Amino acid sequence: MPAPHLLASRHILVTGAGDGIGRAAALALAEHGASVILLGRTASKLEKVYDEIERRGWPQPALLPLDLAQAAPAHYEQVAHTVEKEFGHLDGLLHNAADAGTLTPIELYDPETWYRVMQLNLNAAWLLTRACLPLLRKSADASIVFTTADVGREGRAYWGAYGVSCFGLEGLMQILAAEVASEGRLRANSLNPGAVRTAMRSRLYPGEDVEKLPRPEDIMPAYLYLLGPDSRGVNGQALNAHDFLAHHFSC
Ligand SMILES: NC(=O)c1ccc[n+]([C@@H]2O[C@H](COP(=O)([O-])OP(=O)(O)OC[C@H]3O[C@@H](n4cnc5c(N)ncnc54)[C@H](OP(=O)(O)O)[C@@H]3O)[C@@H](O)[C@H]2O)c1
Repeated sequence: MPAPHLLASRHILVTGAGDGIGRAAALALAEHGASVILLGRTASKLEKVYDEIERRGWPQPALLPLDLAQAAPAHYEQVAHTVEKEFGHLDGLLHNAADAGTLTPIELYDPETWYRVMQLNLNAAWLLTRACLPLLRKSADASIVFTTADVGREGRAYWGAYGVSCFGLEGLMQILAAEVASEGRLRANSLNPGAVRTAMRSRLYPGEDVEKLPRPEDIMPAYLYLLGPDSRGVNGQALNAHDFLAHHFSC
């Protein structure tokens, strides 16, 4: 089990921190001692997470409302500047915000939806990583986690821009991991949460019995592992939260 103060004095930025897996990750990271920078689209959702962290007496978080599908490169530089001013450096970056787009055959896929999904899921992750790398390099032990999915590891019909963006994230992670490998202090990995009970999952699988799905809270040990000191030296890996849990909690 993760030690209670596993992430003490770490500064970790989470995208899509207002809902679903990102919300659960922000709370779990704060509970384990991290100062969490809550980035997301809907300010009111972020404020609720902020208030919960404050109410529980966990380290003071920070709020960064930003629509990643609309943001220009200068906005990402501004995010990095704000984080530097407030925290000095970053120890973790969890790319989690995503839009699943539509389930549509490639030849019928709407170009505007395609552009929006690629901008949020893939380009924003690259732009934010690019802007934050100098802050991550100031940490003695920094971890970047790209959230992906099954459909980004094996092509499946109709998953369109979402599937392609997840393949892109795996490629981005591998290239970055190869570039930083010799530095030793910085690592990049991808994490597939698997099926989890969230709004995105319900939109994609409306007939599913959600009670049979794990809750976001249930998969947090994998996030705490990847964003904490225990995963030091793990770089360039494509991991699955369910495999991680089965391996570590099978007894
Ligand atoms: N749930 C699953 O079964 C599953 C399976 C495989 C992979 N994943 C991956 O896990 C991650 C989290 O998914 P989830 O299921 O937790 O989804 P979710 O419940 O829909 O949450 C997505 C989060 O992303 C934020 N977001 C959406 N558009 C944004 C934008 N333009 N700018 C900034 N933030 C934006 C949302 O903010 P608002 O609420 O303000 O819109 C929300 O906080 C995603 O990368 C997803 O691809 C999930």
